[in-house]
Amino acid sequence: METRKAIQKRRAVKHFDPAYVISPEDQRELLELTMLSPTAFNQQNWRFVLVDDRQQRHALWTAAWEQQQVLDASMLVVLCADLRAWQREPRRYWQKAPSAVQDFVLPAMATYYEGKEQTMRDEAMRSCGIAAQTLMLAATSMGYESCPMDGFDFSEVARIINLPSDHVVTMFVVIGRGTKEPWERPGQLAFTDVVVQDRFS
Ligand SMILES: Cc1cc2nc3c(=O)[nH]c(=O)nc-3n(C[C@H](O)[C@H](O)[C@H](O)COP(=O)(O)O)c2cc1C
Repeated sequence: METRKAIQKRRAVKHFDPAYVISPEDQRELLELTMLSPTAFNQQNWRFVLVDDRQQRHALWTAAWEQQQVLDASMLVVLCADLRAWQREPRRYWQKAPSAVQDFVLPAMATYYEGKEQTMRDEAMRSCGIAAQTLMLAATSMGYESCPMDGFDFSEVARIINLPSDHVVTMFVVIGRGTKEPWERPGQLAFTDVVVQDRFS
């Protein structure tokens, strides 16, 4: 599917066929496409928790205020990020780059994040937001429906998935075969409400 078409077609779908199974090959392809998303300093700080286990799904459904798509979608991905990815053998993110590039980028990366907790957290949200959209557009282009979600208790989700203390949960994306058309887009803003020319007045 053409990218423009996929962007227009993607909607947040909330009703899924619980019997529908996405093949392991398609799941793998969706995640591999998502891993091509851009990240600052190529740090690939996302960690995608793929939840198949029914008990885990049920626990997450409870933590997500019993939103049915958490149970019924074929695929549930909890998008998490490693806040310290920039520190974890960062040379591997640049191993194929010329050594002059490595010598510049690796110290710059350390300087950018060292001691800056808010910056690390912001980076986690940026990376996962972009990855979520890649995942949803890939799903659309492969004929699936999806829904992004943050309607859940973050601490409870972290507990359920055994989140390491230096990681954060950012959002869920669920994917499957939709059973109900979403309602018409309920209230898109006008172009001029959103696009600012040069500077805010
Ligand atoms: C970060 C984020 C969190 C969301 N959380 C939920 C959610 O918990 N439950 C839900 O049904 N929809 C959720 N949505 C879907 C939005 O309601 C939906 O994207 C929005 O109404 C626009 O509709 P569209 O995606 O069909 O264009 C979320 C969307 C985003 C981007």
